[in-house]
Amino acid sequence: MTYVSCKKVQRGTILVGELVLFLLGNYLIYSTIRLINENWYYLPGHTETDLDFSSMEYDDLGLLRFIKQNYLNDPADLELERNLTKTVWKGPVTELVLKLLHNKSNGFFIEAGANDGEFLSNSLPLEVYHDWSGLLVEADPAPLQRLLSKRRKAWVAGCCLSPFNNSVKINMVTHKEWNGIGNIPSLFKGVVKKGDFSDPFEVQCFPLYSLLLAIGRTEVDYLSLDIEGAEYEVLKTIPFDKVSINIISVEFNKKSRDIIKLLHKHGYKSVKRIRQPYIDDLIFINPKILKTLRPGQFTVSHH
Ligand SMILES: *[C@@H]1O[C@H](CO)[C@@H](O)[C@H](O)[C@H]1NC(C)=O
Ligand SMILES: *[C@@H]1O[C@H](CO)[C@@H](O)[C@H](O)[C@H]1NC(C)=O
Ligand SMILES: *[C@@H]1O[C@H](CO)[C@@H](O)[C@H](O)[C@H]1NC(C)=O
Repeated sequence: MTYVSCKKVQRGTILVGELVLFLLGNYLIYSTIRLINENWYYLPGHTETDLDFSSMEYDDLGLLRFIKQNYLNDPADLELERNLTKTVWKGPVTELVLKLLHNKSNGFFIEAGANDGEFLSNSLPLEVYHDWSGLLVEADPAPLQRLLSKRRKAWVAGCCLSPFNNSVKINMVTHKEWNGIGNIPSLFKGVVKKGDFSDPFEVQCFPLYSLLLAIGRTEVDYLSLDIEGAEYEVLKTIPFDKVSINIISVEFNKKSRDIIKLLHKHGYKSVKRIRQPYIDDLIFINPKILKTLRPGQFTVSHH
């Protein structure tokens, strides 16, 4: 495996330590527990109902028009002040993204799930301090409403990302009491009771590529993916020959090995795993960008 460490010069010990942590971490249930408002869960044995356009190709013009008219909210006018409640928080993942992209301005992000667009948002500081725009994806109606009221200068898609190459509806549930805790539901087997969840309800999911085509954007600087367990399936749907993505951060979960394999197959290099309270993300970089880094700024090693 090729492993790239974002450390200045101390390659040896830190790199090995990170790798060990990374492998052990696969089995640490609590590493994936995060405090995020009202997370969603795939219902075990969910049903998928075919839509009229579920058989359409993901670049079908009718599908793209439908998405644009029904699920995409335009970015707020640049003159309008954002309706934020706190000072903007710049977390370690965003710091690293900026470092890797030389503090790029006017970039383009995708953040899914976006939650309310403020709490632990990886993309907000990029938008506020570096004039980026992007696409925010949030399927849960409650945080979605709050997100829309923030007047972010980015597209907001009120849907989920499809784990398939076509559009599908998926039954989801919210947890009734643990509004503050999100996790992959299978990890909670035997811990959660059926009555803990809301009644299942249908959520519309579109392929990420369809959303990008509906916006007219296939060059992406940074993709932040934190969608409670469906990350691998969603990544599999991306046609990397048609969409260019420079940096990808993915929440660490039990499918991280598959995610690493998939992204390495598409030429990405692992940069780092960032673990802090509430944060556990793997960061990947497109080699196109790696070439732009100053020699010595980042070390690359092979395992
Ligand atoms: C990026 O911005 C940070 C903070 O504003 C600064 O410390 C750093 O030197 C900048 N890096 C580059 C490559 O411009
Ligand atoms: C601004 O945000 C607050 C808190 O989230 C919300 O209650 C309020 O309705 C928002 N204002 C507008 C004009 O959307
Ligand atoms: C889905 O699309 C991706 C990207 O174009 C492709 O690699 C994959 O083979 C497709 N999967 C199926 C089941 O068609």
